[in-house]
Amino acid sequence: MRPEVTVNCAMTADGKIAGRSRKQMRISSREDMERVKRLRSTSDAILVGVGTVLADDPHLTIKGLTFEENPLRVVLDSSGHTPDDARVLDERAATLMVTSEDCQRTWPRGEVFRAGRGRVDLVRALEYLYERGIRKLMVEGGGETIFSFFREGLVDRYCVYVGSMVVGGRGSPTPADGEGLPQDRIVRLRLASADRMGDGILLSYEVEDAERP
Ligand SMILES: NC(=O)c1ccc[n+]([C@@H]2O[C@H](COP(=O)([O-])OP(=O)(O)OC[C@H]3O[C@@H](n4cnc5c(N)ncnc54)[C@H](OP(=O)(O)O)[C@@H]3O)[C@@H](O)[C@H]2O)c1
Repeated sequence: MRPEVTVNCAMTADGKIAGRSRKQMRISSREDMERVKRLRSTSDAILVGVGTVLADDPHLTIKGLTFEENPLRVVLDSSGHTPDDARVLDERAATLMVTSEDCQRTWPRGEVFRAGRGRVDLVRALEYLYERGIRKLMVEGGGETIFSFFREGLVDRYCVYVGSMVVGGRGSPTPADGEGLPQDRIVRLRLASADRMGDGILLSYEVEDAERP
């Protein structure tokens, strides 16, 4: 069994989730940020890859919520590159660091779960989250992480806000990077809704061939 997975991200009109410096940029409108806040607060856990922690140093918490009310923060970090003082490890919410079984790293704050050799085994990590009572998981990025979730058939819903701006850059991250899928394994989506939100649009998709939890 695994949690229900919603992938949420924001991209520019030319399909980038950050610019070529890979530093965080504001893409969402005010309305979309409110929606993201609601989605976060109705999730049991929020997950990112270590690339996002190193680039953006996010808190992944919701303003106004207590430690107990905030969703569990989950970081995929196979080799333990998250610095001890990363904001995701602060005292505002609980944090689960997921490393590979080869990694011995621990952190002063935050629990560690080890899954897989070399790189984190996502299926095992999600089974563990389910065992811990996590039923709704929000995956916020970045591109390598989202790609892995799609490749493993672990996405139920994909929400992407398209902001009205162009940043360009062949090396700029996109919602699904990684090595790409072969033609015969393309992930098919069903468009559930398209809503204008400020000066951008929110596209919500269901994944047709997700391996249901
Ligand atoms: N616009 C948005 O909505 C949004 C949201 C989030 C992030 N971003 C942007 O995304 C960029 C970061 O994205 P990114 O692709 O570089 O990094 P990422 O997806 O955040 O993290 C990728 C890293 O996670 C680790 N990982 C562990 N297990 C994994 C697995 N099973 N599958 C995939 N990765 C796994 C890998 O490093 P190890 O092998 O070392 O563990 C991998 O390099 C930044 O520019 C950030 O600003 C944008």
